[in-house]
Amino acid sequence: MSKTRDTDNQSFNKFIYMKTRALAIILSGLLFQSCQDSKPADYRPEFHFSPEKNWVNDPNGLIYLDGEYHIFTQYNPYGDKWGHMSWGHAVSTDLVSWTDLPVALTEFPNPDGSSSMFFSGCAVVDSLNTSGFFREGYKGGLVAIYTIHIDRDGKGAGQSQGLAYSEDKGRTWKVYEGNPVLDIGIADFRDPSVIWYPERNVWIMTVALPKEYKVQFYESANLKDWALTGEFGNKGDVSKIWECPSLSQVKTEGTDETRWVLIISSGHKYERYVGMQYFVGDFDGRTFVSQDQEGVLHLDEGKDFYAAIPFYNLPPDSKSPIIMGWANNWAYANDIPTEGYRGQYSLARALTLYQEDGIFKIRQTPVLPESIPTEKVTLKDGEELTSSLSRQNDNVYRIQLTAELGSSKGFELELLKHGPHKTVISYDPAEQKLTFDRSNSGKTGFHENFPGGAHMTLAPENGIVKLDVIVDKSVIELYANDGKAVMTQLAFPLSGTTAYKINWR
Ligand code: FRU
Repeated sequence: MSKTRDTDNQSFNKFIYMKTRALAIILSGLLFQSCQDSKPADYRPEFHFSPEKNWVNDPNGLIYLDGEYHIFTQYNPYGDKWGHMSWGHAVSTDLVSWTDLPVALTEFPNPDGSSSMFFSGCAVVDSLNTSGFFREGYKGGLVAIYTIHIDRDGKGAGQSQGLAYSEDKGRTWKVYEGNPVLDIGIADFRDPSVIWYPERNVWIMTVALPKEYKVQFYESANLKDWALTGEFGNKGDVSKIWECPSLSQVKTEGTDETRWVLIISSGHKYERYVGMQYFVGDFDGRTFVSQDQEGVLHLDEGKDFYAAIPFYNLPPDSKSPIIMGWANNWAYANDIPTEGYRGQYSLARALTLYQEDGIFKIRQTPVLPESIPTEKVTLKDGEELTSSLSRQNDNVYRIQLTAELGSSKGFELELLKHGPHKTVISYDPAEQKLTFDRSNSGKTGFHENFPGGAHMTLAPENGIVKLDVIVDKSVIELYANDGKAVMTQLAFPLSGTTAYKINWR
């Protein structure tokens, strides 16, 4: 190649560089401009469940039946704060878009002036009609097993377990006149989760004694008469009461084996907040024994994931249990700044087990439609990467980031950027620490417990950190290293259209 050609090329490259720079400056100006006149904030997520109106907390009675997934909700039919607990209802065919249905089970008054609330629980398909509730030959009968919470003048006056049943796929319910079916005479005794144990043809109930940091196991042949078979507790996190336990069989990756997993809602590594932990082990049909584990295994290290339970009766081709949780935290749940409704659920997540240092741990894989705008980015150390990524997206998108760390000091992913506000996810390789900072994320002042950050330990794998970041208006789910560590956090940006940006530190 001649010298002149090289010089020509150089000046041509310079010309293009100047043009591109000028264009970039104009574009970022436009972007800034458009951020200034962007849409007002809208916090209702698009592919996370939220109720049409009013308050929800825990998901209840998650079940699949004849082509429909059902969510029942801890629901207040009369307002957008916790109270009058009843079971709301919604259905979906894909676990992503949900249709609200009329309230399934409504709080009712008792003759003595108290009221019976419907606290958390599960639903099972009683295909063998073990309960005798259904007409002969009908295989689709649903039985809800829930906690009867007696409320007297706004105060709890006893908890026991009760049944309700439905012969029309959960649209209408009858409360069993023989309730309660399990009452041990203590004030806090709740959140039954019932599975069929085919080896002995019995139903097994796992239920919490919240203040004793333990769960109990009961068995029954007919869902009505229950006998205690075992207990498990006082292990792992006992910093807060234990609630919403569930027992599932989870596949160990790369094998045909399954192990039993006990999931519990309890404390968080952060004082004042609730969170979720799990134990992997063995269940012999009567009681649960955990593997030896050091410390606490957290299901989600963010502040907005609680009361998750599995879907029952999944279609035969689904290989993994699927769970869903409440994306909120009791530390501020009643005050989050949404309008007309309050509370939303996490994505559905498939569970598998992998082994690390001889311990079995849960991997979570989100269930998501292909249609969500997705950007796959690879960050290489040393590359000057200021953002060409910012764009308008109505705050609904997914970034699949592979960061090749090399010798870098880490990176920052700035999300939901609007004016001076942003939510920052940063990674520090020296400390192997991922931090989610929402202290300047927009609306943060509605509760003093909200702004504080969350972090988790995250070791690179072969020099790489992978983040799958799912942004859905006000819910952000972060799956790190292919779902080995997960963080769910709410953030309330001041605008409906924001930008994002990735920088090396
Ligand atoms: C968990 C929980 C459950 C209870 C329900 C009441 O968030 O406290 O233990 O059944 O909420 O709404």
